[in-house]
Amino acid sequence: MAEYEYETHDYDCVVVGAGGAGLRATLGMAEQGLRTACISKVFPTRSHTVAAQGGIAASLGNMGPDSWQWHMYDTVKGSDWLGDTDAMEYLAREAPKAVYELEHYGVPFSRTEEGKIYQRPFGGHTTEFGEGPAVQRTCAAADRTGHAILHTLYGQSLKQKAEFYIEYFAIDLIMSDDGVCTGVVCWKLDDGTMHVFNAKMVVLATGGYGRAYFSATSAHTCTGDGGGMAARAGLPMQDMEFVQFHPTGIYGSGCLITEGARGEGGYLTNSEGERFMERYAPNYKDLAPRDYVSRCMTMEIREGRGVGAGKDHIHLNLNHLPKEALAERLPGISESAKIFAGVDVNKEPIPVLPTVHYNMGGIPTNYFGEVLHPTKDNPNAVVPGLMAVGEAGCASVHGANRLGSNSLIDLVVFGRAAAIRAGTVVDRDAAIPATHKPSVDKAFDRFDKLRHANGANPTADLRLEMQKAMQEDAAVFRTDKTLKEGVEKMTSITGKMDDIHVTDRSLVWNTDLMETLELGNLMPNALATIVSAEARKESRGAHAHEDYATRDDKNWRVHTISHVDGAKVTLSHRPVITKPLSTEKEGGIDLKRIAPKVRTF
Ligand code: FUM
Repeated sequence: MAEYEYETHDYDCVVVGAGGAGLRATLGMAEQGLRTACISKVFPTRSHTVAAQGGIAASLGNMGPDSWQWHMYDTVKGSDWLGDTDAMEYLAREAPKAVYELEHYGVPFSRTEEGKIYQRPFGGHTTEFGEGPAVQRTCAAADRTGHAILHTLYGQSLKQKAEFYIEYFAIDLIMSDDGVCTGVVCWKLDDGTMHVFNAKMVVLATGGYGRAYFSATSAHTCTGDGGGMAARAGLPMQDMEFVQFHPTGIYGSGCLITEGARGEGGYLTNSEGERFMERYAPNYKDLAPRDYVSRCMTMEIREGRGVGAGKDHIHLNLNHLPKEALAERLPGISESAKIFAGVDVNKEPIPVLPTVHYNMGGIPTNYFGEVLHPTKDNPNAVVPGLMAVGEAGCASVHGANRLGSNSLIDLVVFGRAAAIRAGTVVDRDAAIPATHKPSVDKAFDRFDKLRHANGANPTADLRLEMQKAMQEDAAVFRTDKTLKEGVEKMTSITGKMDDIHVTDRSLVWNTDLMETLELGNLMPNALATIVSAEARKESRGAHAHEDYATRDDKNWRVHTISHVDGAKVTLSHRPVITKPLSTEKEGGIDLKRIAPKVRTF
């Protein structure tokens, strides 16, 4: 057994991750007087939320009529009817409150002439339950909305005396013998010391796993750490087959060009200079939902109408927009286009390609943020002491496809919901759970094994192998053949984790070991993705299966639940929640409105 000395810390609540969801949960918990720690492997304001550009959806109605019911309808349709209706109602209803709270905390939103929060159009956001024109629902701070929110939430959390443990890497969850989460084991990266956090409530806010792919808009830190820890604790993941490709990653670098660029009037063209989205989506045009736009771009390229020497990408045109508008509304992407594509957006189109951007799947939760461990008798059974929020979780509001700007609102609405729930379920007077030693020993054993691993596969090589397999086989379009091949490849690649090679054995700033731990987290996420995708015999949202071209609600309107144990994945299903929180009489949405139908644009 590996022997590591460790320091113990006791808290009411411990939040792992300091992005938008983690900080909003931390702030809300600290505000209520819960002793709260926030653990982050990077400095909080460097979390991936900082890169969120276009904005945050909420039906404020500042730029024309809007309602939370319309927002809910768009989210249901966007999800291709796989989202849980209670959670989608909660998201749309709470969104305006959550945004005004952000405003009062100090987020520097862009403003209208009258001084209201500026809102821009985004893909799939409409009026009149999809029957009316596009709506300006996405609240923006130029094209640096995530940056503005993250800095504000960090400042407010400090003001509330939340305690931060920065550059601490969470190794594993501490689970009691009866399945209660009682804390987390961490490694302090800058001095190599070990730390055990005991808590009444642990919140996983660790973000997505975009880096399982070769080309992603996600930061290199997006390694699915929460999913990895959950899997090792015997907990499931949900709907992992649904991976979002953002239509406009910069060709080559994968760097994000916000959908807000099309919201402000930008448009896509093919090699013939044609605005092809008008052909595919006569109503929504360039502002159709992302899954659809990404597929249309891919079809254009496949049919030989891609641009560039290799005819392998598409043009995003902004050069018809006034210079002042670009400088005021889109300064960040104007800079990115210059740096990463050498393009002056005032003069030339930006070369773009659908790029992995977001994971709809994650650790299943209810709309309070509590983690679910579905059983046959109770598909909504809760894991005591554990919550998951943001991209790490799956509430599930995005179902098979997320609408642009519904991510930032998911972070703050469910970070806030978790804090509100913790305020009622965490007993302030109860003793902090004692350290569950066997769980800590297990975490250290795994850590030590990787630290001294002397196998044949260097971490970087194995990571590249995984990224290439995922990029190739779990792509925008999938077939039985590619998915079967992907499962075989990913099973073999996961097996190679047992024969990994770590060169640096030290404990201080050992990035080789940290990247190996991260790879150990990416693997179960990637494996669950490809296995779940192979099993789903239909097309829905971001899962475009060429051998099963249509949606099959009779057999497949279900969540995929995946348990990953090493290289083995066991799948089961959980029913989609189809009941909203309120009835039409109570001001809620008419159930007939959200009955499944074919998605048209
Ligand atoms: O395009 C964007 O600005 C991204 C927004 C989002 O993913 O919600």
